Amino acid sequence: MTYKVFAFDAYGTLFDVHSAVGAMRKQIGPEAARLSDIWRTKQLEYTWVRTLAGSYLDFMELTTQALDFAATQCGGISADLRKTLLQSYQTLEAYPDVKPALQKLRDAGIRTAILSNGTPAMLESASRAAGIDGLIDHAISIDTIRRYKTVPEVYALVEGLTGALPGEVSFQSSNRWDIAGAKKFGFRPVWVNRTNQPDEYSDLPPAHTISTLSQLTGLT
Ligand code: LAC
Repeated sequence: MTYKVFAFDAYGTLFDVHSAVGAMRKQIGPEAARLSDIWRTKQLEYTWVRTLAGSYLDFMELTTQALDFAATQCGGISADLRKTLLQSYQTLEAYPDVKPALQKLRDAGIRTAILSNGTPAMLESASRAAGIDGLIDHAISIDTIRRYKTVPEVYALVEGLTGALPGEVSFQSSNRWDIAGAKKFGFRPVWVNRTNQPDEYSDLPPAHTISTLSQLTGLT
């Protein structure tokens, strides 16, 4: 089987969501790691609750609301720090294995896509800052349908924009819940488990589990 499109989740898979807080660890102090975890957890919860309720606010707005909740939980942050963290979210660091893996796919003539909850502006700015914008053929945002992962309509965006059928798409994500959604939809789900997390969603398993994107070469 050859896969026509390799589609990637963005946040947590290509871009390190903890790099924004990481860069300000000293200023934040001992609560930094907890703040970053709550920020990410709430950001995702807010997507699921909005979509289940039939409501929508874009991902930058939800990211902002989630930071405000996390900061309050962790004793508060200054207005300057809040601004810095939100700006950093537009230019998160890419994991070191990302660029070489995308380059190898490009060299092999395989099309690449991002499929993300992020707004088009967020995806563009993060991809540019990470120097991978030239290696992504399609940056696909759920913003056009105003519904978040894991509704099937999100995964269907890939076929609409690339013409590749679900079975012709290899989908890489570090988010195990996103892998579950992709599996249900019919993609080949490849779980990028960099931090050795325990498996879950046993009814919706990945086709492959890799610990770094450099292992993708063996799966093309
Ligand atoms: C995304 C979320 C899962 O990039 O982080 O779609």
